Amino acid sequence: MDKIRIRGGQTLNGVIRIGGAKNAALPLMAASLLTDEALVLSNVPHLADITTMANLLGQHGVLVSLEGQAGNGGHVGRVMSLTAGEITSTTAPYDLVRRMRASVLVLGPIVAREGVATVSLPGGCAIGTRPVDIHLSGLEALGAEIEVEAGYIRASAPKGLRGARYVFPKVSVGATENLLLAASLAKGETIFENAAREPEITDLCECLIAMGAKIDGVGTATLTVQGVDRLHGAEHSIMPDRIEAGTYAMAAAITGGTVELEGARLDHIEAAAAQLRKTGTTIETRNGGIFVSRANTELLAVDVETDPYPGFPTDLQAQFLALMTTAKGASVITETIFENRFMHVPELQRMGADVTTQGNTAVVRGVDQLNGAPVMASDLRASASLVLAGLVADGVTEVRRIYHLDRGYERLEEKLRLVGADVERVEDS
Ligand code: EPZ
Repeated sequence: MDKIRIRGGQTLNGVIRIGGAKNAALPLMAASLLTDEALVLSNVPHLADITTMANLLGQHGVLVSLEGQAGNGGHVGRVMSLTAGEITSTTAPYDLVRRMRASVLVLGPIVAREGVATVSLPGGCAIGTRPVDIHLSGLEALGAEIEVEAGYIRASAPKGLRGARYVFPKVSVGATENLLLAASLAKGETIFENAAREPEITDLCECLIAMGAKIDGVGTATLTVQGVDRLHGAEHSIMPDRIEAGTYAMAAAITGGTVELEGARLDHIEAAAAQLRKTGTTIETRNGGIFVSRANTELLAVDVETDPYPGFPTDLQAQFLALMTTAKGASVITETIFENRFMHVPELQRMGADVTTQGNTAVVRGVDQLNGAPVMASDLRASASLVLAGLVADGVTEVRRIYHLDRGYERLEEKLRLVGADVERVEDS
């Protein structure tokens, strides 16, 4: 197993290319199940989770092919073609689903197209219990019968799904995606209220519309879907990864550097950008990407509370907390989405960070200097926060269990090296 070794103290300067968004790509790939024609996705990131989804779809009978070259600092122009000519299996087995929660996104499209789907329950994960009750109650509203038995969800709608009005009891990104996929092929009109508004949902809506779906209210919390009998193939370019962009913006800020994030969109991370500005960091649109700089200003402590979009994203909370460990003053970080998303805190403490947690709140008192240490990654974004801390720590930080990082950051060490970080991937002995 590999680990990442960082020698802290380098200021980041230069250009980082931002890849396609993992969390947009996964539901988009699942959309291929809705048609027997080819869905061609471009700007596909090269990540472990994408491979997991491709394997799962392949198991359902989807033909997946991939083209594109590995470029410097990322797989620019990677194109994936997915053709579900026939769904050969309506079952998503435990062995594949347990690797990635987003596997549950095949449930909606398969039951919509085949009238039946059996998907293993994804189970919990490091950041919380993460139930799928909303996915299931939404499908029930669309007329599916749901049974949960022996660890498997079985959804059936032999006569097809039918449109309905469904109010999400809580904002859920995955459930909104699953139900949008399902409602596209339901009979009649579906009205979703309190739907998630993340840019990844908008990206999915745009692709579904290109496939022939009829969706109104895109980008708002009320989505109206007129079901159609069939969808067709389409080409779609995956949106840039806003969490990757936010992570590198914070990397620039923590090192007092100046970085351009090529291909990133500032309007996707406005809430995070607003908080970054309060820390003394400049962040603005430039050359069609994002310019970030904290060249000559002190890093100030700022409070943050996570919220569904357009609020501050939970997927940037760990990185912002790392940023605050060397800020001037104290900051209060409140996590409202997941109940157990402070796994990075004990590791940051090992590096000398002054953080106390109580329930869903962390109080971070900035210290003058972090110290390099061996640390353990617990989940994807926690891993990224440890890398950020390592960039400014005195001495060497080694981040272990980086398979978490590889799920969501393409060639992180290469991208950071290109802007001056002293970081390498080494084999863990
Ligand atoms: C998506 O997860 C992302 N994953 C997560 O990113 C992200 O943290 C999360 O949205 C929130 O923004 C993908 O897009 C693949 P939710 P998802 O359903 O869809 C509760 C990363 O690091 N809930 O919006 O699973 C749930 O427990 C990952 O890239 C229910 O109670 O998140 C949570 O508290 C991690 N019942 C809240 O809702 C349900 O049926 C929001 O979860 C569904 C969710």
